Amino acid sequence: MNKPIFKVLEELENQSSLEKSRQVDVPADERMLAITKETGELLNMILRLKNAKNVLEVGMSVGYSTIWCAEAIVENQGKIITIEQNPKKINRAKENFQKANVLDSITIHEGLAMQILQEFNLKEEYKEFFDFVLIDADKENVIKYFEMVLPLVSVGGVIITDNMLYPEKYKEDMKKYSSYIRSNQNVRTITSPIGNGEEITIKLR
Ligand SMILES: C[S@@+](CC[C@H](N)C(=O)[O-])C[C@H]1O[C@@H](n2cnc3c(N)ncnc32)[C@H](O)[C@@H]1O
Repeated sequence: MNKPIFKVLEELENQSSLEKSRQVDVPADERMLAITKETGELLNMILRLKNAKNVLEVGMSVGYSTIWCAEAIVENQGKIITIEQNPKKINRAKENFQKANVLDSITIHEGLAMQILQEFNLKEEYKEFFDFVLIDADKENVIKYFEMVLPLVSVGGVIITDNMLYPEKYKEDMKKYSSYIRSNQNVRTITSPIGNGEEITIKLR
């Protein structure tokens, strides 16, 4: 067990539960909005099962999910590319990565996910490069993110999408997303009730 990583994860879990239970008053744009611990464990387990090396994250926040991913891949010399638009959160994430001793495994792309994913799609080296992707940014664009991520994922690669079942305010967007991916013959997908509802999608061809 790597102690610094688990200490940072625990601190972030405490912060997240204070925010969720409204015991601390945090401005909307500074909230962590993190995946649950159970989801972190799920991501970590899938990464280990896949022996994953190249991870892409869309929506980093302060880095809780990123650190769960890093824990699974550091020994493998794996790398994570993560996207976030909020500079305050990026600064907090960098501090968390430093404390967790995973900074060297992570590259942060600051800016709008749509624009950055468009740039990635133009780069030959990113074609089918990633073996694992977490989609967890704004939910209005989730279908577009999936369309842009799919060419970047290797055959057999996994895409996880958070918030399939909760919170209620995302239900309509996630319902549309769910039927959209189910109509794609190139993937197989299930919705797991873990955490806030995790879509687990595998690229078949
Ligand atoms: C749900 S939070 C991510 C939580 C993180 N994955 C975790 O579990 O620790 C979503 C994040 O996506 C960022 N975000 C929202 N829309 C974005 C966009 N269009 N481009 C880049 N980042 C965006 C938000 O600033 C927020 O920090």
